[in-house]
Amino acid sequence: MNRALTQSERQWLEYFRDLGFVDLYLPAAAGTRGEEPVIEAPEPRVASGVPGSLSEKLAAVAAEAAQCTACKLSDGRQHVVFGSGNPSADLMFIGEGPGAEEDRQGLPFVGPAGALLTRIIKAIDLERDQVYIANIVKCRPPGNRNPEPDEVAACSGYLKRQIDLIQPRVIVALGRVAAQTLLGRKAPLGRMRGEWYDVCGIPTRVTYHPAALLRNATYKRPTWEDMQAVRDRLAEESS
Ligand code: URA
Repeated sequence: MNRALTQSERQWLEYFRDLGFVDLYLPAAAGTRGEEPVIEAPEPRVASGVPGSLSEKLAAVAAEAAQCTACKLSDGRQHVVFGSGNPSADLMFIGEGPGAEEDRQGLPFVGPAGALLTRIIKAIDLERDQVYIANIVKCRPPGNRNPEPDEVAACSGYLKRQIDLIQPRVIVALGRVAAQTLLGRKAPLGRMRGEWYDVCGIPTRVTYHPAALLRNATYKRPTWEDMQAVRDRLAEESS
């Protein structure tokens, strides 16, 4: 290349370098995964009557979740993985459900996909402790299978209350399960990304799950495009 890189090209290259990739040739984005049942999208937010600070209110919901036996996922868990991050975050990521490492530590996205998520967050000039990270289901599905509809339904109240309390400016749904659940749609992820949705009154974007990105390099570029849209929207929402 015999011309200077544009700012956007430079950011794009830095993003992949930060992700640990050195081979920067990317074929066109492709690929979708199978279908699965969805639950209804969360209801519009309601004002919470619980007194106390935001952190205390979130802690109260977390304490309730820690005792939860509403579905069979409670049988095999080591920890309920409620969520982590800044209760006043402008940006909230919602994944699918805890994996083995998350179950062990009681924290979301602390395994290999989590390390990549941290890099993705940094790529839009944020730190992990500035955002809030949660999952559709709070207990690990055995063998990392997809959560089943009754499990998603049993857990949905916790997520609704997290969203209501945090009221982020933007939500990012990570992967097909999170996207289908939040949007109440059964479409493949590739068809849902690329536009804005309203989840509980909050602008919501859908992107590939970091674990999918680790498996399939063709998802890197569309994920970067999604995250740029998120960064731009955050700047707009804060101005
Ligand atoms: N994958 C998820 O969807 N959530 C986690 O917390 C970890 C991996």
